[in-house]
Amino acid sequence: MSETKKKLRSEEWFGKTDKMGFIYRSWMKNQGFPEDMFHGKPVIGICNTWSELTPCNSHFRILAESIRHGIYEAGGFPLEFPVMSLGETLMKPTAMLYRNLASMDVEESIRANPLDGVVLMTGCDKTTPSLLMGAASVDIPSIVLPGGPMLNGKFRGQDIGSGTHVWKFTDELKAGQMTPKDYLQAESCMSRSNGHCMTMGTASTMACMVESLGMTLPGGAAIPAVDSRRKVLAHMVGRRIVEMVKADIRPSAILTRQAFENAIKVNAAIGGSTNFIIHLLAIAGRVGVELNLDDFDKLGSQIPLLLNLMPSGKYLMEDFYYSGGLPVIINQLKEHLHMDALTVNGRTHAQNTEDACCYNSEVIYNINKPLQEAAGIAVVKGNLAENGAVIKPSAATPALMKHRGRAVVFENIEDYHARVDDPKLDIDETCVMVLKNVGPKGYPGMPEVGNMTLPQKLLNKGITDMVRISDGRMSGTAYGTVILHVSPESAIGGNLAFVQNGDMIELDVKNRRLHLDVSDEELLKRRRGWRTPDPIMDRGYVSLYVQHVQQSHLGADMDFLVGNSGSDVPRDSH
Ligand code: FES
Repeated sequence: MSETKKKLRSEEWFGKTDKMGFIYRSWMKNQGFPEDMFHGKPVIGICNTWSELTPCNSHFRILAESIRHGIYEAGGFPLEFPVMSLGETLMKPTAMLYRNLASMDVEESIRANPLDGVVLMTGCDKTTPSLLMGAASVDIPSIVLPGGPMLNGKFRGQDIGSGTHVWKFTDELKAGQMTPKDYLQAESCMSRSNGHCMTMGTASTMACMVESLGMTLPGGAAIPAVDSRRKVLAHMVGRRIVEMVKADIRPSAILTRQAFENAIKVNAAIGGSTNFIIHLLAIAGRVGVELNLDDFDKLGSQIPLLLNLMPSGKYLMEDFYYSGGLPVIINQLKEHLHMDALTVNGRTHAQNTEDACCYNSEVIYNINKPLQEAAGIAVVKGNLAENGAVIKPSAATPALMKHRGRAVVFENIEDYHARVDDPKLDIDETCVMVLKNVGPKGYPGMPEVGNMTLPQKLLNKGITDMVRISDGRMSGTAYGTVILHVSPESAIGGNLAFVQNGDMIELDVKNRRLHLDVSDEELLKRRRGWRTPDPIMDRGYVSLYVQHVQQSHLGADMDFLVGNSGSDVPRDSH
């Protein structure tokens, strides 16, 4: 039986016999590629986010070589290219400000070049959503290679987790329970190998999201970055993308509504980061899947917590891998998931996970005896968050989940830093800390400052948690009774902007309520006396971002980037 072979997209460049073909091939040949590479072989882009400024992705040049081997073996033509890399720890004011910019770089780089398929090399937090968003908007066959987590941090006989122990040690230092010398030593003990944060922070959450969406090979999320099996995975990803091009398996075939529902439920079971919400909404927007904030609560909040990883639990990603990894979680959740959803290897989740075996039930709990019942992200609403706000119950203090307290307001991050440790600050542990102007437009970029460190004087008293509310985000490695992503944000006149010191705020997570106990008339009066904060910058990308970024309940993508343009480029360059 003869097979109808689909024309490769790259033939529009390399298949030409005229002047254009000469130009497209000739300059490429300066890299030493033989003639036959340009004819009939799927051209595979290796989209690399390597950068020494993104330490979590600093091993990607080595991994790219393994991908390249796999592509060659399968008969493809690998071409590696760089895109903007987003390092979470170094970028100011926040890497999130640049997620949408990087996604544009990815989208346009893929579309503009003679690529038939692409491997997306993701690791540090924002490198995952930005690459997926960009690739989804082009919709050529794509597969993700997550870079893998660091080995467990080790400090004086104890396992310590990226981020999570930074917050803990910082509190201990402030409270005088840790010396500055110990604090300095802990730095090198925490980050002792290549890889991303090894807690269930945003990077690990994103790697699990990619696997549960079906966009990487099964088991790919948890393998430590420096484990040789990560290189094997890279090699297999290289082989697989060539087959995906031949079978024309595109992101749109995998990123269905069912896949997004699976990701939400898996995220609940692993105690994933709240940042997951914003990124998943943005990715859904690119592929045209209807998804809203309420879906996260409706689908995920009743799912039990199965994974005992920091910040919600005790262990780290290395332990997760040795215990069986994400296939075990997916298998445990089979009654809740769309197990017939397609994944990049051409098989379903059911087929991929049928042999999954748990090797440590202290790390991965059984669904019949979970670590915590109903642990998924909760969405609270009320006059303080008309479009919603989120809380991660598994990382919160149960006793604070229903709380009424007096607001202590910080107008912006500078105000917070200036006053939080002032001994004269009128605050006690029953108060609610409120931080304004840290949303998508207000900061700009919605930084991870929502888990405000408590005032020194309360830490000295041994207080470890308080209700905190903001329109910002929280690091996935952080914890506490923290209400995040308040929408509409204060900078555009959401009611958060009108909270004053002494107002009473009611939080009732069980009933999904967040209420500012101030009358509508008073709020209107305050609104009349309010004016939009001055922009921090008024030119370049930041200006474009502030003008076009959507609110957090919509995923904080730019309004003009929602949707996709496909892979066609109607005009030639010469
Ligand atoms: Fe890169 Fe945490 S800082 S993953």
